[in-house]
Amino acid sequence: MDHRGRGGPSVHLPLSAPTMAEGSTTLPCMTHMHVAGSIHADAVAQGPQWLVRPEDVNALDERLWSTSVVRSDEGVVTVAGLGVDQIAREVGTPVYVVDEADFRRRARGFAEAFAGWDIYYAGKSFLTSKVARWVAEEGLCLDVCSGNELTVALRGGMDPAKIGLHGNNKSVEELRLALESGVGRIIVDSLDEISRLETLATELDTTARVLVRVTTGVEAHTHEYIATAHEDQKFGFSIQGGQALMALVRCQQSPGIELRGIHSHIGSQIFDTHGFEVAARRTMRLMAQFGQATGVSLPELDLGGGFGIAYTAEDTPATPDALSAGLTEIIEHERRAYGLHQPHLSIEPGRAISGPPAMAVYTVGTVKVVDIEGGAQRVYVSVDGGMSDNIRPALYAAEYSAVVANRTSTARPVLCRVVGKHCEGGDILVRDVFLPADVRPGDLVAVPASGAYSRAMASNYNHATKPPVVSVKDGQLSTMLRRETLDDLLALDVLD
Ligand SMILES: Cc1ncc(COP(=O)(O)O)c(C=O)c1O
Repeated sequence: MDHRGRGGPSVHLPLSAPTMAEGSTTLPCMTHMHVAGSIHADAVAQGPQWLVRPEDVNALDERLWSTSVVRSDEGVVTVAGLGVDQIAREVGTPVYVVDEADFRRRARGFAEAFAGWDIYYAGKSFLTSKVARWVAEEGLCLDVCSGNELTVALRGGMDPAKIGLHGNNKSVEELRLALESGVGRIIVDSLDEISRLETLATELDTTARVLVRVTTGVEAHTHEYIATAHEDQKFGFSIQGGQALMALVRCQQSPGIELRGIHSHIGSQIFDTHGFEVAARRTMRLMAQFGQATGVSLPELDLGGGFGIAYTAEDTPATPDALSAGLTEIIEHERRAYGLHQPHLSIEPGRAISGPPAMAVYTVGTVKVVDIEGGAQRVYVSVDGGMSDNIRPALYAAEYSAVVANRTSTARPVLCRVVGKHCEGGDILVRDVFLPADVRPGDLVAVPASGAYSRAMASNYNHATKPPVVSVKDGQLSTMLRRETLDDLLALDVLD
């Protein structure tokens, strides 16, 4: 399960509360008719334990939003000086809005805090040609996990020598593209892949620079599907089972391969550095074993990504400075313990760079109060997007927050569930959030920390067209990805 303990209690309103009529379009009764009967704070359950009923439902918790986000004097949420109402008018909703300066600042923050390390921005979290350009301009490296991501990175001007290619099932074509374009390193994940690389390197008369991805057996404190270093999963070679050492020796002996080192990634949205400590200890011990077996000391160690961010007020991420200090100390300790040379170090932060700079903006379509067990009711706020533009809540019970973004309200906070428009009961975007009781159709709802694994994992479920991504800098709007159109979808649809 996700480390934050999902699915707290629901809204508990007294049985006597009037429900909204089916088809009702606004929620005035929530404000004026006291839907909860004697509607006092104590009459409404507070949702999950971590969710604090806000003093001011209009407040923007600065831990969740990009640095330039504030409300204007008119109450509209603005990004780098531009109101989300204006953005919605110009490009429609749903839309992801990226604060370019904030993205760059976070990328730079890692580069500065981890001076001397290589920082590979994990492109899987969110990648466009412009993102690749920003990453290159900020002096970072970039990791990709498909041939197509590699093409986008190159298109954005990323130096191929600063690109790493991941993947547990890279095709021959993807490996060929990587070798032909001069990718700096390939993170090998299986013996089949090593064989393919050997053949290709001979054919292309080149050398593949590789890291061997290992599984350290660490159970990261995160959801099962995003914890990747325990043994029973598809990524990497097991240290415990001895396959990791065998793969390292095999690469070392292979003429077409230049073995650079070891790669470990233990999971995502991790707050507890203990997992990194255990992983570092096990990878350093493996380096020592490899040194004993071959007399060669491996020059590189990559500790992967997974640094947690604040999606809700309960998340307390570490700063890059604190992470750097902690990881450096751990590595130094283990290096001394095993009498190893200092390896060249790298990490692969994805969401910690791309998540917080962006918000998703939706338009409310319907508001419905639903009777649930125990005489309780729940307020469902349906928006014009959903699981097709953010699958994370449905996929691994990820939590988000939200605000009404086009105005402020004097109505009291009511616990709501923000849901999408898809034909799926689990189509939830924000499981529990306090919104003003007068939230109504036409309002804009903004969801912070939506830059990572949202657009990147978007689908066309129900023939939804994928939302655009725009960036804002100094009040200027520019398109990063245009909105998909029905014509785009129909172009794929063959009617003989
Ligand atoms: C190998 C690897 N590196 C880096 C990352 C980035 O993780 P995050 O975005 O949580 O930092 C991932 C995420 O899945 C990954 O698999």
